Amino acid sequence: MEKIISTEEIAPRIHRIVITAPQIAKMWHPGQFLIIHLNEDSERIPLTICKRNLDKGELTLIVQAIGESTREICGSPAGSDIRDVLGPLGMPSDIDENFKSVLFVSGGIGITPLYPLIQRYHELGIQTTVLMGFRTAKNLILDSEVKEVANNIMIASDDGTLGEKGLALDLIAPAIEKWGKFDHVYIAGPVRMMQYTVSEAAKFGIKSTVSLNPLMIDGTGMCGGCRVNIGGHIKFACVDGPEFDGELVDFEKLAKKLGTYKDHQCRIRQ
Ligand SMILES: Cc1cc2nc3c(=O)[nH]c(=O)nc-3n(C[C@H](O)[C@H](O)[C@H](O)COP(=O)(O)OP(=O)(O)OC[C@H]3O[C@@H](n4cnc5c(N)ncnc54)[C@H](O)[C@@H]3O)c2cc1C
Ligand code: FES
Repeated sequence: MEKIISTEEIAPRIHRIVITAPQIAKMWHPGQFLIIHLNEDSERIPLTICKRNLDKGELTLIVQAIGESTREICGSPAGSDIRDVLGPLGMPSDIDENFKSVLFVSGGIGITPLYPLIQRYHELGIQTTVLMGFRTAKNLILDSEVKEVANNIMIASDDGTLGEKGLALDLIAPAIEKWGKFDHVYIAGPVRMMQYTVSEAAKFGIKSTVSLNPLMIDGTGMCGGCRVNIGGHIKFACVDGPEFDGELVDFEKLAKKLGTYKDHQCRIRQ
């Protein structure tokens, strides 16, 4: 049985959780995620694999407590058993070794799926520029890890308590002015943040990849719960994604679908 090795609150309601999962650690590639099922009665929840330690067979997850299951994981002490962990799931990130300079734009906890990708591009000797956006200074996460693998970094916060006041996407134009044009941009964060960042990047002729997080149930392509519309075609984010060409994503449908169960999910938790 897998276990929680350590857990630490790194920002309000955001925990860094290290778990054992040696088989998944061996097979994992950046971009892939897992589904964790803590106890018999818990829901299965998809979580991105942020880091792995191959020697120890451990994985690092960054979990934001927003509902019952994420609160349950964040509240579990080190040493807790995990009923089962399924993974690695999804397609590995599409990494282009011919790129010279790559941009990454995150919103909040969206830096989690981007971090392993930044690290990979850095290992390939490709210039990495990261624009991180947070609501406020105390929500800052993974900044020291990102600084180790990013050539350039800029931070924005909604309330101006950290870095530039505004959104991470507002930093795209200044970043281009400072570091030149980027070959590609990877984006992760809330749905609307990704939608507007794709449009902003497109103004500068930069193609984008977004990391989508629709509601998932089985995570294996069987239930259809994670259906997304990509360029007019139905795709399942759990097996075809979670990364897709940003300009092909139907963000309106995605936002509507994510909102559909909001009241129900909140009600059944009360
Ligand atoms: C591929 C993938 C990777 C993910 N990686 C991470 C991660 O690394 N760290 C992390 O903290 N979370 C991640 N998530 C989101 C996480 O799975 C959800 O937050 C979790 O399932 C919510 O469960 P809950 O029971 O705690 O909350 P619920 O009670 O189910 O939901 C609480 C509120 O959150 C909203 N919500 C639920 N699921 C999502 C979702 N997928 N996207 C947006 N809003 C949602 C609901 O509409 C509701 O308003 C990922 C999701 C996917 C699909
Ligand atoms: S979660 Fe069931 S098909 Fe993707």
